[in-house]
Amino acid sequence: MIEIADPAQMRAWSRRERAAGRRIGFVPTMGYLHEGHLHLVDRARARADVVVLSAFVNPLQFGPGEDFERYPRDAARDRALAKGSAVDCFFAPPLETMYPAAPAIRFAPGPLVAHLCGPRRPGHFEGVLLVVAKLFHLVEPDVAVFGRKDAQQAILVTRMTAELDFPVTIDVAPIVREPDGLAKSSRNVYLQPAERRAAAVLSDALEGAHLAFDRGAREAAALTQKVRDTVAGQPLVTLEYVEAVDPRSLQPVVAASADTILALAARVGPARLIDNVVLGQGLSADVRLPADSVAPA
Ligand code: PAJ
Repeated sequence: MIEIADPAQMRAWSRRERAAGRRIGFVPTMGYLHEGHLHLVDRARARADVVVLSAFVNPLQFGPGEDFERYPRDAARDRALAKGSAVDCFFAPPLETMYPAAPAIRFAPGPLVAHLCGPRRPGHFEGVLLVVAKLFHLVEPDVAVFGRKDAQQAILVTRMTAELDFPVTIDVAPIVREPDGLAKSSRNVYLQPAERRAAAVLSDALEGAHLAFDRGAREAAALTQKVRDTVAGQPLVTLEYVEAVDPRSLQPVVAASADTILALAARVGPARLIDNVVLGQGLSADVRLPADSVAPA
C-alpha cells in the first residue's frame, strides 16, 4: 500500500494507474475506520483494479458547535486497517493542502436539503459536496463507493456527479450493522456502555416500521409515529427527527411505497447518530456483523 499526503502526487499516481489500463475505485472517508468503511473498500475492489481510500476530516462540513475538534482521529490505526484490507493507496492530505485559503465557491443543493439532516445541519451538505468534488478531481476515480448509512449524502453525491457530468460511477453500499443492529459509525466511540446499549433502539424502531409496512401499513404519518413511540421508550435516546421521504426528491411522502426511505437522527449522550431503512427492504438488506466479530482495534 502506497501512502500519499500531497494532492498533486495523488493525481499523478492515479494518472499513472489509468495510463497502465487500470480502473480506479475510490472510498472517501473521514478516517477512524470501522467495518462499514472496510465493506466499501471490498465493494470498490470488486468494481475496480486498484482502490484509493482517503482519510480527511473536512472542516467545511461541520457547523459551529459540532464535533470537528473532538472528531476521533488515529492516523496510525487507519493506516494499519487500510493496509490489512484491499486498499492500494491511502490518501491523507493535510488540512492546509486541501484548503490553502478559505474557499469562496460553494454548491447549493437546493430542495434536496430541505428535509432530513439538511435543515438541522445548515451548510453541512454544501461542505460535503465541495470536498467530494475536490477529492474526485484529485483521485479521478472510475467508481466511487458511498454508504447508504448516510442516505441523503449518497443521493446528493449521485445527483451532483450526474448533473455536473463527473466521469465517475457512484455505487451505494448497504449499511454495516453491529450484532444488535446499531449502524457502525466513527461517532459510536462517544457512547458510554449504557448509551451504547440504548442506541440499539434506533434500528429496532426502523425494523418495527418496516414490519408494519410489510403487513400493509402505508400511511407515512403512522409509520413515523411508530418509530417515535418505540424510541420514546428508551430514556437515554432523544429523537431529533424521523421522516419518510422519496428516494429521488428527498421530499416527505404521504403514502409510503417500497422504495420510501425512512430516516432518523437522534441524540444519545454526546453523540448525534443517524440511521435509515428502505421500507420495502428492511434491515435484512444490510450487513449484520456476527456476534463474535472482533472490532478493528
Ligand atoms: P465518513 O463518515 O467517514 O463515512 C465515509 C463513508 O463510509 C460514507 O460513504 C459513509 O456513508 C460510509 N459509512 C459510514 N458508516 C457506514 C456503515 N455503517 N455502513 C456502510 N457505510 C458506512 O461520510 C463521510 O465520512 C464524509 O461526509 C465524506 C463523504 C468522506 C466527505 O467528507
